[in-house]
Amino acid sequence: MVSIPSSNTPALVQTLQWVFNPLGYMRKNFEQRGDFFRAEVSPVNPEPIVFINHPEAIQYLLTHDSSEELTSPGEVNVQIKALFGENSVLLLNGKQHRQRRQLIVPPFHGERMRAYGDLICTIAREVMGTWEIGKPLCIRDTMQQITMRVILQAVFGLHEGDRYRRLERLLAERLNLITTPLTSIFIFFPQLMPNLGSWSLAGQVKRLIQETDDLLYAEIRERRAVPNPNATDVLSMLLSARDEDGQGLTDAQLHDELITLLIAGHETTATALAWAFYWIHRLPEVRQKLMAELSAHQYSTDWTAIARLPYLTAVCNETLRIYPVAMVTLPRRVEKPIQIKGYDLEPGMLLMGCIYLVHHREDLYPDSNTFQPERFIERNYSPYQFLPFGGGVRRCVGAALAMYEMTLILSTILNECDLKLLETQEVKPVRRGGTLAPGGGVSMCKVGDRPPRFSDHTTPQATSAAYPVV
Ligand code: HEM
Repeated sequence: MVSIPSSNTPALVQTLQWVFNPLGYMRKNFEQRGDFFRAEVSPVNPEPIVFINHPEAIQYLLTHDSSEELTSPGEVNVQIKALFGENSVLLLNGKQHRQRRQLIVPPFHGERMRAYGDLICTIAREVMGTWEIGKPLCIRDTMQQITMRVILQAVFGLHEGDRYRRLERLLAERLNLITTPLTSIFIFFPQLMPNLGSWSLAGQVKRLIQETDDLLYAEIRERRAVPNPNATDVLSMLLSARDEDGQGLTDAQLHDELITLLIAGHETTATALAWAFYWIHRLPEVRQKLMAELSAHQYSTDWTAIARLPYLTAVCNETLRIYPVAMVTLPRRVEKPIQIKGYDLEPGMLLMGCIYLVHHREDLYPDSNTFQPERFIERNYSPYQFLPFGGGVRRCVGAALAMYEMTLILSTILNECDLKLLETQEVKPVRRGGTLAPGGGVSMCKVGDRPPRFSDHTTPQATSAAYPVV
């Protein structure tokens, strides 16, 4: 009988450490308690929470998370209910969860996803076109502009018009308000956010939610009234979907799913891209190797080939390894007494795969705090050793889209624009809501244009040699 080690630190102190210094909290517990430890970090969940970072244990967790022993309950994700709504896929269970995923996964995979290649690059150029030489930019904010536009297109199938622009602005405002390291505390202690009128944080969030909801419900009503049988966007598909009893989704269900996809679908990818730009410009040898690879594809519009470039993919993987945007997986619940790696797990316990700690195991990633994309070229990691998108029945719906966006946005911008990092100190990771983001958002500036893409008739090889790689 080996029970899960736990700390004597009071739950309130643990929660504050987890909110304000999540990496320190995880590292200290790992050093003192090892691969499994009790984490008293969620005042809103009465169940005991266990963080797990051993790859074999994670494998067990993610391959049995829809069995008699383990489940992937949605109702325990109460902390995100206020952000996404109770009808979100994140809060569904069992059969309902499976059915909802069957509806929302296809637009983010395969041919349907690859069709977004042109759009992603066009939007990246649109945003890049607003940058002025020498003027500082917050890279995270600009990446958020790009990823928001991509997801609005994928979810609604539109990318212009007044409603679309207002939605874009309101969603960004709403997220920025509640995702600073300080305001992240309200996710853990919602009672600390009193509504003291329109000037208070709660008042502002309420107003923004109301305005966003009005726009979303107006869009849903219009789309119901004039269905387009040929449309391939997520909203059109959800509108025509019927369950086994012939029932469609209600407006409230549609609304919560749209909000989930809009928020989960751009916020995380924008953060990952900001980290990628930071590392590429902080480490000259990484940039040099990457530019050598990218410049050979400067004039290509074969997005699938670009998305598969080995060093570019390795840079994206290493970015998601070193500071994983999602530090932990969603919780899985123990339903029957089980043992994993010799530890006794009792029914009711919530198990969370600790992505950050797995990604920093020295046995897998020597010198784990150093950014080395070569790791991913020299070695193959299993899905339980490298898991930025989780796994099992709740594996990230947008994993393929996120990787596609990262590779295409990086290649487009790096091939067409020279940027400079303005940060003189190391950028530290900070909590941003439930995610890990670069503190301050990474300040950079454009220092020049790289040669524009040539028309279809220009021979790329002949011209590219005229321009130095870096
Ligand atoms: C770099 C970007 C992203 C990262 C690091 C990320 C990470 C994750 C992780 C770790 C999970 C939990 C998986 C688990 O518990 O096993 C998750 C779930 C989810 N992600 Fe992502 N994600 C990203 C981008 C996206 C995008 C682009 C979308 C939408 C298109 C999206 C939609 C979702 C949804 C809906 C879930 C919940 C799935 C469920 O409950 O079944 N994510 N994501």
